[in-house]
Amino acid sequence: MFKDLKVLKIGGSVITDKKQWKKAKPREIQRISVEIASAFKEKPFKLVLIHGAGSYGHPLVDEMRKEKLLSSPLKFSEVVFSVSELNHLFLKHLLANKLPCVQLKAVDLVKLRNGEIASLQVEPVKECLERGLIPVLHGDMALDEKLTFNVASGDMLAEFIAARLKAEELLFGTDVDGLYTSDPKLGLEAQFISEVNKGNLNELLGIVSKEEFYTSNSTDVTGRMPKKFRYMVKAAKQGVKCVVFNACKPSMVYRALRGEKIRASYINLTS
Ligand SMILES: Nc1ncnc2c1ncn2[C@@H]1O[C@H](COP(=O)(O)OP(=O)(O)OP(=O)(O)O)[C@@H](O)[C@H]1O
Ligand SMILES: [Mg+2]
Repeated sequence: MFKDLKVLKIGGSVITDKKQWKKAKPREIQRISVEIASAFKEKPFKLVLIHGAGSYGHPLVDEMRKEKLLSSPLKFSEVVFSVSELNHLFLKHLLANKLPCVQLKAVDLVKLRNGEIASLQVEPVKECLERGLIPVLHGDMALDEKLTFNVASGDMLAEFIAARLKAEELLFGTDVDGLYTSDPKLGLEAQFISEVNKGNLNELLGIVSKEEFYTSNSTDVTGRMPKKFRYMVKAAKQGVKCVVFNACKPSMVYRALRGEKIRASYINLTS
């Protein structure tokens, strides 16, 4: 397919303040755009960029779930509009850094079934890449066969596209250094996991999924690191190397895109 394709997901935790409703971090968005542009300038590659919804999506969807409003067309429109606003801001900075980006919307491409991807049209993504564009998707809402509407998380979209297009690498930039044995923000006992391979996979799946139940906080609706880990495992089982790193730290996005060895968790289930 594409020999040098990278899929990069930048977390909503990096580009927004998840504690404040619709609070973007333009300086972080600008820094990350500069880092992507620098990596591109040094050595061009194919890139699909996906960003999270952060505080432009999670709180609204949380409210919808609590009030059983997942089937409300008006609420659906409100969330789609809200996450588009964050997307526009990101696109503005990418373009200002001369990156040929174009947005693709989940509502056009994705059909969900009970919150998981039932189908995703990858042709438009491929065709944009073939023409030298950077397709940009984001954590969004999409149509669900069973539930009318549901969340298409950025992590979910990233895994699906990376696996389907046989990306060389799937990179997740988030607000912690990588995968830990428990949430590093909750205690000092969390141990950093630098490598996930065939040998330690089952043990780590046990440790991280046990903690999944406890980690969800009130305004996060897409499972945080434990669910991200499951998507990474899914991609890695299909031959995509995955890396999760701290994109809040300057130069990490650049270095990850350049393929440098960084402090991160590497998931490789091929060797
Ligand atoms: N075992 C774990 N290892 C690392 N982080 C964990 C773990 N369990 C829970 N977390 C939490 O997961 C958070 C990262 O997931 P989160 O969904 O908040 O970010 P994101 O995916 O980058 O943002 P968004 O969902 O808006 O795109 C970390 O801030 C951390 O507190
Ligand atoms: Mg998340």
